[in-house]
Amino acid sequence: MSIWILWAGCGVMGGSEVQGDPAAREPAAAGSEEHHAHGEADDHATVHHRFDDPEHWSKVFDDPARDAWQKPAELVAALEISAGQTVADIGAGTGYFNPHLAAAVGEGGRVIALDVEPSLVAHMTERARREGTPQVEARLTQPDQSGLEEAEVDHVLLVNTYHHIGQRMAYFRELKSKLREGGQLVVVDYDPEADPEHGPPPEHRLSLAKVTEELEAAGFTFVGELSLLPHQYVGRFR
Ligand SMILES: C[S@@+](CC[C@H](N)C(=O)[O-])C[C@H]1O[C@@H](n2cnc3c(N)ncnc32)[C@H](O)[C@@H]1O
Repeated sequence: MSIWILWAGCGVMGGSEVQGDPAAREPAAAGSEEHHAHGEADDHATVHHRFDDPEHWSKVFDDPARDAWQKPAELVAALEISAGQTVADIGAGTGYFNPHLAAAVGEGGRVIALDVEPSLVAHMTERARREGTPQVEARLTQPDQSGLEEAEVDHVLLVNTYHHIGQRMAYFRELKSKLREGGQLVVVDYDPEADPEHGPPPEHRLSLAKVTEELEAAGFTFVGELSLLPHQYVGRFR
């Protein structure tokens, strides 16, 4: 059973017991990294960072030690996904959440795992074959488009990816129409005030307050924050 609490103020999900865990880092060494402040007033700086080495990122994102703090099974359970539904994981990376999402939707549902890196999409396609989850479709998308069809999904999950998306106002306005009636968007990310040793550098982070401000401007409604993870906030939007 999940507990979604009404958000009051900035979502600082503290906890420093897993300090320096490499699975939580986004090492700058792996590719070029740029910060772009976009034109729209509501659009906070975006971090552009390549994730084009599946072998490397598998070791980071799929480090078994990550499960202890990322709690993928509990997080997916809290999304209250029903069998037969369709879930999109935007910025799915190496597909860390895919087996959990595949189990939640069952054989009659669909998981659309989107990423902008062709090599990661190929990796996730092979992963789905290896794991025997034909309900998982790895799909290549573009940085400024969700890559989803109109009213295609019941749930959208965004884990550690929000700050990589540029032109967010336009992006999330478009994303709204990809959700079915009653659909939800769940954003999991690091607060700038949380443990700096765990997760991306504080200057790459956006608070839940900022994310909420941007998403509400794009037409979403904040529903609540899930108090589940030691290092990240979990915000739910409709
Ligand atoms: C920090 S990784 C997170 C991966 C995964 N969500 C996880 O938690 O293991 C961010 C991912 O988002 C992808 N990405 C960046 N910008 C994107 C965009 N505009 N649309 C979709 N994916 C994007 C990157 O290629 C990368 O795989």
